[in-house]
Amino acid sequence: HNPEIDRLLQAYEWSAKFYHYLLKNTEHGKAAMDYLRSRKFSDKMIDQFQIGFAPDRWDTLLQFLERRNFDLAEMERGGLLSARSEGKGYIDRFRGRIIFPIANRAGKVVAFAGRILGEGQPKYINSPESKLFNKSRILYNLHQSKASIRKTRQIVLFEGYGDVISAWESGVHNGVATMGTSLTENHASMIKALADEVVIAYDGDRAGQAAAMKTLSMLEAVDLRVKVAVLPGGMDPDEFVSEYGGERFREQIIESAVSTVKFKLIYLKKNHILLEEDGKIAYVKEALQVIASLHSSTEREVYLKEIASELELSYDSLKQDCNLLRASMQ
Ligand code: CTP
Ligand code: MN
Ligand code: MN
Ligand code: MN
Ligand code: MN
Repeated sequence: HNPEIDRLLQAYEWSAKFYHYLLKNTEHGKAAMDYLRSRKFSDKMIDQFQIGFAPDRWDTLLQFLERRNFDLAEMERGGLLSARSEGKGYIDRFRGRIIFPIANRAGKVVAFAGRILGEGQPKYINSPESKLFNKSRILYNLHQSKASIRKTRQIVLFEGYGDVISAWESGVHNGVATMGTSLTENHASMIKALADEVVIAYDGDRAGQAAAMKTLSMLEAVDLRVKVAVLPGGMDPDEFVSEYGGERFREQIIESAVSTVKFKLIYLKKNHILLEEDGKIAYVKEALQVIASLHSSTEREVYLKEIASELELSYDSLKQDCNLLRASMQ
């Protein structure tokens, strides 16, 4: 029990309510509300995820906290305020940004992420790591998704806030996000304690797919069953839902998630031009590495046959190369 932490939790709780109020009920929030609507965030989701807006001023939250007698130095350490660059005193850390409150597993707000309206850099500003907030130990939305996770023993893993929120609206209630940072071993063991299966639903761009490759091996290392959702055309889950709706998202993306072997093959294939002999041979070599490491001969046969028919090769020669490779792996 630490009184500074209690005060900070209180400040975050009230600040989240304040920013949510400013978004929904004031002139300051209008442009932010328009922006959220243009991205198809519904009122229901804005309420449920307690989305807010920090006006583009120096002292909106500062005055709010001062009036409530919070210690401003403490609030700066907790990431709600910033120290002035010149002279003494403090200013609001979040200015002119959409606020996504980040809660711990118990549902207490422990940090904010602030997104710029529209284009611009940096896209997100976060609360700094603090006694309350350790990115490598927090999964966004775990407090709301844990009931569904307990029932299904499955977790859907996203990159970002918008992805979790639009998935939720689509009926996917077991979604959490790593908030862009790579999954840590800590996250992996948290997930292992809650679920038996993970669907990785990272962005369809190169960065997202590369991150999915890393994440899947970390999750398999703790003996979770893993599947990967493949997004078309570099889209992220939020964009897919906006474009095609929640039903197609559930059916074509989440429920159609592929095995990790299949995903690795898709991932490797993108680096090669299969119409050229060199490309074809190089891809087959990499694919065989993946397939040869499978313990089940049935599984090996399934994937070898797929590749054989896709690349117009004989199953026998693929199998022979695969067995040679296995012998060298012993
Ligand atoms: N992120 C961050 N800081 C950044 C960029 C990203 O903290 N400068 C985190 C955020 O948690 C973000 C996630 O990484 O949600 C995924 O990043 P990205 O795909 O770039 O953002 P989106 O979630 O798609 O954000 P938006 O749809 O609003 O553009
Ligand atoms: Mn509300
Ligand atoms: Mn991304
Ligand atoms: Mn994204
Ligand atoms: Mn997005």
